[in-house]
Amino acid sequence: MNIAQVDYDGLIPNNVALGQDVRVKRALEKWHPGYLSWWNDMGPEGFQESLVYLRTAVSVDPKGWAKFDYVRMPEYRWGVLLAPQMEGRKVNFGTHKGEDAWQEVPGEYRAMLRRLVVIQGDTEPASVEQQRHLGKTAPSLYDMRNLFQVNVEEGRHLWAMVYLLQKYFGTDGREEAEALLQRRSGDPDTPRMLGAFNEKTPDWLSFFMFTYFTDRDGKMQLEALAQSGFDPLSRTCRFMLTEEAHHMFVGETGVTRVIQRTCEAMTEAGVKDPNEIEKVRKLGVIDLPTIQKKANLHFSLTLDLFGNEISTNAANAFHAGLKGRYREDRLKDDHQLESGTYPVLRLIDGQIRNEDSPALAALNMRLRDDYVVDCNAGVGRWNKVIEGFGIPFEIKLPHVAFHRHIGEFSKIKADVSGHVMSDEQWQKRRGEFLPSDNDRDFIESLMKAESQIGKFASWIAPPKVGIDNKPGNFEYVKIA
Ligand SMILES: [Fe+2]
Ligand SMILES: [Fe+2]
Repeated sequence: MNIAQVDYDGLIPNNVALGQDVRVKRALEKWHPGYLSWWNDMGPEGFQESLVYLRTAVSVDPKGWAKFDYVRMPEYRWGVLLAPQMEGRKVNFGTHKGEDAWQEVPGEYRAMLRRLVVIQGDTEPASVEQQRHLGKTAPSLYDMRNLFQVNVEEGRHLWAMVYLLQKYFGTDGREEAEALLQRRSGDPDTPRMLGAFNEKTPDWLSFFMFTYFTDRDGKMQLEALAQSGFDPLSRTCRFMLTEEAHHMFVGETGVTRVIQRTCEAMTEAGVKDPNEIEKVRKLGVIDLPTIQKKANLHFSLTLDLFGNEISTNAANAFHAGLKGRYREDRLKDDHQLESGTYPVLRLIDGQIRNEDSPALAALNMRLRDDYVVDCNAGVGRWNKVIEGFGIPFEIKLPHVAFHRHIGEFSKIKADVSGHVMSDEQWQKRRGEFLPSDNDRDFIESLMKAESQIGKFASWIAPPKVGIDNKPGNFEYVKIA
């Protein structure tokens, strides 16, 4: 069969010849009803009957892999799609560097590999759960459609990880696949595994910040796993990255459009000082300082997802050839890191300082550094918009020591510039850096659904182009 084409005949679309793999096919078919019942309980609330203009993967060919059509979300064709196998692919790093890539799980790494798959898998349904109430306050049908597209694809990413668990990890894999449907974002007893995935996404600015910052962590993790010597994981992640690009597009353009609308309204009303918050809010748009605070919040929560700066787990996964660095295949060094060092930002005698650490132990730090660079590119584009209006304001990512709960800086309080402060100072100044109750109430007051075709809420500009090149008056969701 042609790997680029997807078999749509059975219950589960796939390009992994599931029809010939009776055991795994049965396992997935058994898991399917539980998945659907999770989707109905925890997926987008109130829109399960609506027709949504969604893309579905019909191929894994990078050019032209998706088709667009109206779909009811519970009828979305969630499937198992792997990027094509690369002939002669090798393990590209770690102690097994140069060996043929593994098509089966190496016995000695089974537990480590399973854990990597489960942690990645757990984030996928978590974000659907976090976003389930947002449909009701969508600022346009266009945005509502984008939300639902992200949601169904996170559902598909769960399928992607569950396929690996069912196919390669036997009974424990099956149990893990079940557990992925049992945990719930924010649940006090059975929370999702990582902190940022238990936070609320209460409003649309949060949603855009989440897709910008937190889906980008997803991108970094998938990039690192796409390097894996375990070939099925690599192929799975490579295709997920194709979908992930849209999620970050939704985040970046979403924030851009919010900024754009704020700047337009300020200019029309002759408000020149971005810090005149009340004046700006009266215009029905979100003031730039509040947008900055939201960025501070989501950026800092997401940094925690990279784990401890110095990490034995990360070193072991690299050494074993299971999880590489960002773009490992383009880096020029020995790809084993047994000797080199990497500068790690640490807390030394109460001061934040760089310290050279063994490169192998510093891999989380390194991935986080690559992430920050990636984040900054889009922030620069946001600032171009503000600059274009001649408004004296610049969005800045806070210092990595700001508002942390994991790693070196979890023990201290620091301001957005990385100045260490006392608990007392922090309590006093917290509202300067993070959204206050008042900020939240204001944003919430703007969150009223705009469901007329081609119309947008007061606080967000329309997109430059439609999805699938559709015109501005296209009905992206037929609300039932
Ligand atoms: Fe995902
Ligand atoms: Fe995503």
